[in-house]
Amino acid sequence: MTETEAVAFPQDRTCPYHPPQAYQPLRDARPLTRVTLYDGRSVWAVTGHAEARALLADGRLSSDRTTDGFPLPSERVAQVKDRRVALLGVDDPLHNVQRRMLIPSFSVKRIAALRPRIQEAVDRLIDAMEEQGPPAELVEAFALPVPSMVICALLGVPYADHDFFEEQSRRLLRGPKAADVEAARDELEAYFLQLIDAKVQSPGEGLLDDLVAQQLAAGAVDREELVAMATILLIAGHETTANMISLGTYTLLQHPEQFAALRADDGLMPAAVEELLRFLSIADGMLRVAKEDIDVAGATIRAGDGVVFPTSLINRDADVYGEPERLDWNRGTLHHVAFGFGIHQCLGQNLARAEMEIALGTLFRRLPGLALAVPADEIPFKPGDTIQGMLELPVTW
Ligand code: HEM
Repeated sequence: MTETEAVAFPQDRTCPYHPPQAYQPLRDARPLTRVTLYDGRSVWAVTGHAEARALLADGRLSSDRTTDGFPLPSERVAQVKDRRVALLGVDDPLHNVQRRMLIPSFSVKRIAALRPRIQEAVDRLIDAMEEQGPPAELVEAFALPVPSMVICALLGVPYADHDFFEEQSRRLLRGPKAADVEAARDELEAYFLQLIDAKVQSPGEGLLDDLVAQQLAAGAVDREELVAMATILLIAGHETTANMISLGTYTLLQHPEQFAALRADDGLMPAAVEELLRFLSIADGMLRVAKEDIDVAGATIRAGDGVVFPTSLINRDADVYGEPERLDWNRGTLHHVAFGFGIHQCLGQNLARAEMEIALGTLFRRLPGLALAVPADEIPFKPGDTIQGMLELPVTW
């Protein structure tokens, strides 16, 4: 076994915003190396930036987790690998068909039109925090409700049901047992089947309503496929951005110099969001399996081999990013892979950027005294086999 093969993947971070220390041998061995999964299987880990972008855009790699050799990251995910996952879990041509139905709703123009609604949600949540606090638990009071309200409005899902689907999403991504993942999938599927049937009877305003009226009615999708699409949009739409808001806030509070610069110049916010995406790399492990042999970096990835992409290492490739460990608002164009790359590159990235800019910018402007309410090392963060972020973030102001 080589030195890197002894490295288990994925692992919990030691600091919530840095890659796990135990990944150091993988960085040293970039661009391509081997790691070991929870079940003892050895797979490829791509840690070089150029190689990652080339491979993520390579149609010889598959995202279909039912394929033999797919690098399942945990027992929980392995247990539900046969469940249908729209977009993220399918290859072209079906992937392209699904994605084309959704692209118009996530365009720059459509998202720009949503900005006043995002601002309104953000302001209302900060009003409530001010009425009740300080202190506050920022994940529950702010980081989760912002994207949750926005994705509900975009999809046409009643926000009144948020306790239900936030709980299912938590079980799906972090439930301790495989049974949690199965049960959460069942509950979400039943919920969306009912919602879709209700929308057939009485259409409302939202992306799901449009899909029911246009695609379902024309037979371009069936109910089950629509449910799978709704599930991925809802989960991807709120868990990810919520983590960027909580972990982004924590990180800034730990970097007073960069925080002060950002507060002094609101115009830095878009660049800061981009750098935070690179630096935090919260989706720290994209997964693929090779369908054919692929020669890369002097090695051959064989058909059937699993390939993992630790984004926290790719986004800190020292050949591309000078002083990669530094949070720096002035890097210019980043070409990070925090949103992935290739055909599966994040569909919601324009929305996520708008939410982060408005949420973080407004939070820091309206609560200028924002600070951690407990010592930083006492604040719990998420385990390595899920999207990275804070489990709780007690703050005061
Ligand atoms: C900052 C927040 C976000 C991050 C870091 C993020 C990250 C990612 C990444 C890395 C991928 C590619 C995964 C892969 O190739 O295996 C992805 C795909 C995806 N994301 Fe996001 N995402 C974020 C926010 C959102 C939002 C707000 C939505 C809204 C619905 C969304 C919807 C999706 C969808 C549907 C896909 C699958 C696209 C496809 O397979 O074609 N994401 N995201």
